[in-house]
Amino acid sequence: MDRLVRELSLGDFPDIIRIERDSFDEPWPAAAFDGMFKHPNYGVALGDELIGFILYNRVEDEAVITNFAVLKAHRGKGHGEYLLDQSMRSLRKKGCDRFYLEVRKSNDVAISLYHKYGYQSLGIRKGYYSSPTEDAVVMGAFFTPTVKEDGDDL
Ligand SMILES: CC(C)(COP(=O)(O)OP(=O)(O)OC[C@H]1O[C@@H](n2cnc3c(N)ncnc32)[C@H](O)[C@@H]1OP(=O)(O)O)[C@@H](O)C(=O)NCCC(=O)NCCS
Repeated sequence: MDRLVRELSLGDFPDIIRIERDSFDEPWPAAAFDGMFKHPNYGVALGDELIGFILYNRVEDEAVITNFAVLKAHRGKGHGEYLLDQSMRSLRKKGCDRFYLEVRKSNDVAISLYHKYGYQSLGIRKGYYSSPTEDAVVMGAFFTPTVKEDGDDL
């Protein structure tokens, strides 16, 4: 089936909530997604079905990953990696060269994926997460500034 990474729109909202609830023990409430469409955010679809999303908070040349998930049934098949890769490429073309995120210290899957894409551990935020309480690893990836390109790139 055709796989596509594309920017998200309002019509994707129900699928984003579905993926969020499938992915996290303590999912964000729907209201926490308010304002997300002001930022360039991305989803991965198989045919017509959205199976994953990655949300960024972008300010000028800096982008912070705020949420990232793939439906359980579709994990381990390279879709998360493809989404991370394509979204970072798109943001780099838009002028972002510094990327940050926080991740649960025990989340070996995500940490291993982030390492593959140039993220290094910058430090620990003690007790950052609740239910269960856990430290966050703060990670960052830094690139040589690129020339901003106009127009669609996905
Ligand atoms: C993190 C997540 C988005 C990755 O998506 P995915 O589609 O399953 O990942 P991929 O199949 O693209 O795997 C890419 C890389 O992730 C890592 N990875 C994936 N599955 C793994 C596993 N079971 N064990 C260890 N590493 C794993 C590997 O580095 C892998 O690269 P490799 O195949 O070269 O070893 C997905 O696991 C998820 O939704 N997890 C729950 C939500 C979450 O933790 N989000 C991150 C919050 S910071």
